[in-house]
Amino acid sequence: MVEGLLLVPPGGAVRGVGSRQDGLDPVEAASVDELRALQAERLRWSVRHAHGNVAHYRSVFDAAGVRPEDVVELSDLGRLPFTTKGDLRANHPFGMFAVPREQVVRVHASSGTTGTPTVVGYTRGDLETWGDVMARSIRAAGGRAGDTVHNAYGYGLFTGGLGAHYGAERLGCTVVPASGGMSERQVRLIDDLRPDVIMATPSYMLALVDEMERQGIDPRSTSLRAGIFGAEPWTEAMRGEMERRLDMHAVDIYGLSEVIGPGVASECVETKDGLHVWEDHFYPEIIDPLTGEVLPDGEHGELVLTSLTKQAMPVIRYRTGDLTRLLPGTARTMRRIERITGRTDDMIILRGVNLFPTQIEELILRMPDLSPHFQCVLARTGSLDSLTVRVERRAAVTAEGAAQAGTLLKRRVKDAIGVSVGVDVVAPGAVERSAGKMRRIVDDRPGR
Ligand code: DLL
Repeated sequence: MVEGLLLVPPGGAVRGVGSRQDGLDPVEAASVDELRALQAERLRWSVRHAHGNVAHYRSVFDAAGVRPEDVVELSDLGRLPFTTKGDLRANHPFGMFAVPREQVVRVHASSGTTGTPTVVGYTRGDLETWGDVMARSIRAAGGRAGDTVHNAYGYGLFTGGLGAHYGAERLGCTVVPASGGMSERQVRLIDDLRPDVIMATPSYMLALVDEMERQGIDPRSTSLRAGIFGAEPWTEAMRGEMERRLDMHAVDIYGLSEVIGPGVASECVETKDGLHVWEDHFYPEIIDPLTGEVLPDGEHGELVLTSLTKQAMPVIRYRTGDLTRLLPGTARTMRRIERITGRTDDMIILRGVNLFPTQIEELILRMPDLSPHFQCVLARTGSLDSLTVRVERRAAVTAEGAAQAGTLLKRRVKDAIGVSVGVDVVAPGAVERSAGKMRRIVDDRPGR
């Protein structure tokens, strides 16, 4: 630890800014100027903290010729190098920690499907921050103290379960720690305990809706008022589907383990117009993923995040790989990110055309004969890649109806995205279900 360096990020100012408005955190109602001043103060702390206590940051800042004291304004952030998943892997497991191991009270690991998992750590103070931003997120979705929250995010190394759990407790809710899986029991719990709010991945929520119907429970008749869905991309069309089938509000929540977990950004039920980034703790930038150039607000690119208050594992300019754009605040001062379209590494390039599974989802959901359970299967014949969309028909649809829907979907993909794909309409239940993040892309190409 660098001598004399304050472990606690500057925070006192928050209490002075904004005014408490209908139970919002005061900082949610701060002016843009107040918010920027707070961010600049915290950025100076975070950069000094990272440089002073993490060998990796010290060496890359030094190599870039930037001293921590050169970072004064928010606009100075651009002088610092990016941090990548590769940097975290190279420093596995504890090399990115900025505090002595004894101060790390919890670790989680990212759900990386390949390679070394990324271990992340939290001090007691970080857990407080995380609880605060998650409580803020649940509140933004319409949750209130006294509500019951059914938490179907997986508990364990994944940050979803425990992140949502402590946030709900912090808000003063009763938590049902259901975790993911065992859908039959989950539906029974919802029926018996009458929760107000549910938290799950959107794909798992759909599996729960199917299970409700299987048990003869009308999903529109449950006690649920709001669902907080994230951890994987989903679309506006899917929001429509969930709200219609469940007669409740559906809002989006975003986050990633490397930055803290869920609760980096969250949608509010008043406007449902994108996710407010909790900018007092996480500073967002959008860059061109190919050149690394910082893009102005409003332009599409890759989200880069800098932690402003994290103690155990600060991240400076972390490249998330997630594609979105920054929009001005609406119901809150803090800027919004648009719903994530996909990840840079989830983009399918088919005969020169870029495409994301979310685009397919939009088209499927517009077709009443098809269900939202689908996967994109990649194959190779000779030297040519092909994509087949495997999608379930709805239960009431005949084989003939399903074939017609398949032909129509093929045509719509060609019209909307500009590329020919195969469509395989399968029976209800034939596409795999997941209790957590859904595997949307199945890559059957040789060598994958
Ligand atoms: O998925 C944290 C989380 C848990 C977020 C529960 C929301 C709800 P990781 O396992 O580290 O953490 O995966 C992070 O998931 O970089 C995105 O690619 C994706 N992701 C997370 N939320 C969303 C979302 C958790 N709302 C990675 N929309 C991120 C689209 C999302 N993608």
